[in-house]
Amino acid sequence: MDEIRNKVKNLRRDFANVELSEASCPDDPIVLFRDWLHQAIESEIKDANAFTISTYANGEVDSRVVLIRDIYEEGLQFFTNYGSNKGKELAEHHQAAVNFFWADLDRQLRIKVKVEKLNKVESDEYFMSRPRESRIGAWASKQSARLESRAHLEAEVERLTKEFEGKEVHRPDFWGGYLAKPYYYEFWQGRPSRLHDRIAYELKDGKWQKSRLYP
Ligand SMILES: Cc1cc2nc3c(=O)[nH]c(=O)nc-3n(C[C@H](O)[C@H](O)[C@H](O)COP(=O)(O)O)c2cc1C
Repeated sequence: MDEIRNKVKNLRRDFANVELSEASCPDDPIVLFRDWLHQAIESEIKDANAFTISTYANGEVDSRVVLIRDIYEEGLQFFTNYGSNKGKELAEHHQAAVNFFWADLDRQLRIKVKVEKLNKVESDEYFMSRPRESRIGAWASKQSARLESRAHLEAEVERLTKEFEGKEVHRPDFWGGYLAKPYYYEFWQGRPSRLHDRIAYELKDGKWQKSRLYP
């Protein structure tokens, strides 16, 4: 116990000297977002498309990791079970916080978003691109509900595999995508001696306003 406490206390590293300047930040933050995501994927960082999304409902904040599946002018897409905890929380509160951490690049990207459901066609399209086993898995999982045992889940997968034999595994209504629309970004680039670069973008009257924040 004391060993881990000491280790945590003393674990530190300095960050590389890659700069993020106001001049290098484009007017539209989605351009920089795409650049950073692209560089993270190209660097072959594990799970470069994973981000934490925090939601709020009933006086509590909750967070978990999901995968970004598309990025375009309006925002970013991710997919999940609409009946999961996050699904219920997003139904109650459309605002959420997104956080990408790319440790190997000394980068963090924080985004505040408003979340809406994708239309059925978009959700169908992505669902059908998933491997058949994952599609059956989506049918089998009442994501976030209490599960009696692992065996119960496996039996359900087996039952559904038989039920879908020779048939297409279409998307269940309780599963689909969300579009997360950013209204605030903060790009964080780690720098030596904790003097990090932080460039924020705020959407004001339909225009992005850029500013630098103290580290
Ligand atoms: C790397 C990684 C990627 C994940 N991707 C997704 C995803 O795209 N969609 C999803 O529903 N859950 C994903 N999960 C699982 C979620 O973190 C979470 O356990 C699940 O969605 C239930 O969350 P909830 O109870 O808050 O709704 C992923 C987990 C990890 C660690």
